[in-house]
Amino acid sequence: MSLVGLKEVLRDSIEGRYAVGAFDATDHLFAESILLAAEETRTPVILMVGDFPAPVDYDNFYPYLVDRISRTHVPVCLHFDHGASFEACALAIRRGCTSIMIDGSALSFEENVALTKKVVEMAHACNVEVEGEIGSVGRNESLEGENAVSLYTEPEDAAEFVALTGVDALAVSIGTVHGVYKKAPKMDFERLARIRSLIDIPLVMHGGSGLSVEDFHAAVSNGMNKINAFTNLSIAVADRIAETAKALPPKTITGPLYEAAIETGKQQVMEHIKLFGTKTIDR
Ligand code: 13P
Repeated sequence: MSLVGLKEVLRDSIEGRYAVGAFDATDHLFAESILLAAEETRTPVILMVGDFPAPVDYDNFYPYLVDRISRTHVPVCLHFDHGASFEACALAIRRGCTSIMIDGSALSFEENVALTKKVVEMAHACNVEVEGEIGSVGRNESLEGENAVSLYTEPEDAAEFVALTGVDALAVSIGTVHGVYKKAPKMDFERLARIRSLIDIPLVMHGGSGLSVEDFHAAVSNGMNKINAFTNLSIAVADRIAETAKALPPKTITGPLYEAAIETGKQQVMEHIKLFGTKTIDR
């Protein structure tokens, strides 16, 4: 139990046609929400730490996570999200991640293959699993205008990428974007089904928060096995902190705010776990 690799948490997700939630922990409170939600639902979970600035000092955050996860009663994969370089991935492995993502999606196909292959060789030598990305999931930076442009994954490219790199999981682009949706995304589930028919490793969907229930169900039934979600969950937590603060008398202490933050984060994570159909560990 407790700290395990990506393959272990996704073990029978392809045959079982379900997905496991992957949630970014940007601080201790959200990490707590994720782990409490997984324990309450008795499901495996993927706790991610991103390769981007956070309100925590990573040198102290990782030892806390590794220790906290070791005392959790469900399988938890500690995953490095959107690794931007070989060096960043190597550091994440040294810090205790059991799985890493190398994100070469902005590179040419050849450059992405070369970088991902190099990271896979290094990570596998350390017994750590690797997620790569082919196609590109855009990022909404503001609330105005259209959704950011995502480059849909070509199924044949995806199959070739897996064969050339040896990745353990593959992020593919089927219409989602990171951040808050400005308009409903143009999801391409036929493309996903075609990718699934060509590839026998777990498929990953980024930009998972804010989709409709129907989109989530279609993503899972057509072959997604790991679904990343962060933005909408974080917004729900921030809203609840603001509401709770407004209702508190002046000169109050922080306890009620932190409790509200953890509880809201936990409920959000549990709702997503339910949407993804994640199998319980008691099955
Ligand atoms: P959202 O923040 O859009 O939910 O995406 C999360 C994600 O894909 C992290 O890799």
